[in-house]
Amino acid sequence: MARRSGAISILTCGIGLILCTLATAEDLKPIELPELRTEGGMPLMEALKARKTSRSFSPKKLPDQVLSDLLWAAWGVNRPDSGKRTAPSAVNWQEIDVYVALAEGVYLYDAKAHRLEPVLAKDLRAMTGTQSFVKDAPVNLVYVADLARMTGASDRDKAFCSAADTGFIAQNVYLYCASEGLATVVRGLIDRPALKKALNLRSDQEIILAQSVGYPEEPE
Ligand SMILES: Cc1cc2nc3c(=O)[nH]c(=O)nc-3n(C[C@H](O)[C@H](O)[C@H](O)COP(=O)(O)O)c2cc1C
Repeated sequence: MARRSGAISILTCGIGLILCTLATAEDLKPIELPELRTEGGMPLMEALKARKTSRSFSPKKLPDQVLSDLLWAAWGVNRPDSGKRTAPSAVNWQEIDVYVALAEGVYLYDAKAHRLEPVLAKDLRAMTGTQSFVKDAPVNLVYVADLARMTGASDRDKAFCSAADTGFIAQNVYLYCASEGLATVVRGLIDRPALKKALNLRSDQEIILAQSVGYPEEPE
């Protein structure tokens, strides 16, 4: 009898957990990003001069327009006819997905639709890195390689190309941030197994880097 009631409570707990997970995934709605502003910004040479790493962030949220322009600069579609992007990728595999961790939850950037698709209604910002400032940034981008898209490549080439392709995206973000007066830092210090589990990634999806973005912390 005791064993039976133990089994029932384990089952109840399991069902509760599943329902809880389903509920959190459904709590988020897709975010339609505002139309891009593809004009203006700093001249390229000035942006290169201003590019730098910053590790202090104001908690002030990024306006949707800034988030829209940031994600397009990072890895948006700049040639709709071919679907090609603002950063190059080996063999045009386009294997990098940008997960966007905000206070309200985690989204996946759908570049073609220029929209954020809900992944998880949970604030995972702190989990996207091991450094204490990470939780303060209003936006933490997580660059995830989908190795399944890299057809015909050896494991070595998959690792090399996905790392290189991520570097181009991260530099686009650095330059956009320089132009827009935002603070940013690209980061390799991540507890990848923990974050991979939290994001419910498949075994052939690899977390390459993360990047925090926000307004610079204002001096007191
Ligand atoms: C691949 C890579 C990984 C990095 N990982 C981290 C990191 O985990 N944490 C961090 O604070 N900075 C990280 N950085 C930022 C570097 O420390 C920074 O770029 C370097 O100090 C030079 O500063 P600068 O970007 O202002 O020129 C990383 C940079 C690169 C390119």
